[in-house]
Amino acid sequence: TGVITLDPGFANTGSCTSAITFMDGEQGILRYRGIPVQELAEKSTFVETAYLLINGDLPTRNQLSRFSELLNEHSLVHEDMHLFFNNFPRSAHPMGILSSMVNALRSFYPTLEGLTEKEEINITLTRLLSKVRTMAAMAYKMSRGHAVVYPRPNLSYCANFLNMMFDSPVKPYKMDEDLLRALNVFWILHADHEQNCSTAAVRLVGSARVNLYAAISAGIAALWGPLHGGANQKVIEMLEMIQENGGDATPFIKKAKDRNDPFRLMGFGHRVYKTYDPRAKIMKEMCDKVLRVLNLHDPLLDIAKKLEEVAVEDPYFKDHNLYPNVDFYSGIVLRAMGIPTNMFTVMFAIGRLPGWIAQWKEGASDPNWKLYRPRQIYIGRTDSRFVPIDERG
Ligand code: CMC
Repeated sequence: TGVITLDPGFANTGSCTSAITFMDGEQGILRYRGIPVQELAEKSTFVETAYLLINGDLPTRNQLSRFSELLNEHSLVHEDMHLFFNNFPRSAHPMGILSSMVNALRSFYPTLEGLTEKEEINITLTRLLSKVRTMAAMAYKMSRGHAVVYPRPNLSYCANFLNMMFDSPVKPYKMDEDLLRALNVFWILHADHEQNCSTAAVRLVGSARVNLYAAISAGIAALWGPLHGGANQKVIEMLEMIQENGGDATPFIKKAKDRNDPFRLMGFGHRVYKTYDPRAKIMKEMCDKVLRVLNLHDPLLDIAKKLEEVAVEDPYFKDHNLYPNVDFYSGIVLRAMGIPTNMFTVMFAIGRLPGWIAQWKEGASDPNWKLYRPRQIYIGRTDSRFVPIDERG
């Protein structure tokens, strides 16, 4: 009852209170639990940042090593899940596979008897953080027809991922400390972003009191979309198209400005940031650093930088406050690591897991955790009558 306010895309609706992530879209500020993301990117690890988001404070040395141990303990994936993987068509998109697999985790790991609710939540979130990473590497290996590499207890969370992705019996993976650091930073930058589309999906689905695996699976499905996390794959595909067209981005910028053309410049624009995305700034610097230390040259980085230069000076982009977002430069870092393009959004998903979990946990611990149930403004017919099928013209 009462007046229903229409707010398309919930651009002006606060759906919850939260103490996890602070964003100031005008000034381009992002903080996790009060700490600037730049500081975390410089000084923290992904596992430590995950702990911070989920538990509210930075861990002590003991808490961090216990958390890391638990992540190692839960890193194996049920062997029967291999069958599941094997039966997806080879051409299936890894995000579709991941979303299904995460939902299936509930069947393979049902509620344990005798645990308190808190213990049950802790074990579930540890499993998610650890197993989603293992499954991502597993999916990659299986998509190539290669043997799966199991997680190793002596490796850190990020090192284990790189090893599971790239180790092989014929060419043992040589860990590169710079790449390892880059992966930590990449995941820290993706770790949370307040009520974005996928997080809102996790909170919405979770509010129906479904299990956490199912809620996260919904988040993964939302993230797959090209307007959201799927943009990182689309950016590289766009840069490759520009490269194929001789490297000139002008026709693409023109197309993006054309109101009659649905094409958008991928990796540009943001619902909240009306200035440069602070994550994009770090990501851009990281591209230069990673390529330098690996002694690589990626022509797509030159194209991206040139495109940005032209776009940010263009009146259309200025008037619409369109600047590069996190996805614009992230693909170049992933390419340098050897991650295939169709796995880019999976990389985003692994990074966003701590945020989804922290946001779900915050919602679930709110004594006033209400079922998400937005209203609508009905604009359809109200006075129709049932017409028997023979009389319909
Ligand atoms: N290229 C060209 N025009 C754009 C773009 C773009 N990338 N983004 C927004 N606009 C225009 C849009 O056409 C509209 O113009 P007008 O008002 O003249 O009709 C205006 O800007 C506002 O667009 P909107 O769609 O109402 O704004 P929004 O807040 O819903 O959009 C967005 C946010 C991220 C969906 C959008 O900027 C976009 O589609 N960007 C490209 C996809 C992308 O890079 N997504 C990643 C987002 S950041 C990380 C993540 O979530 O994964």
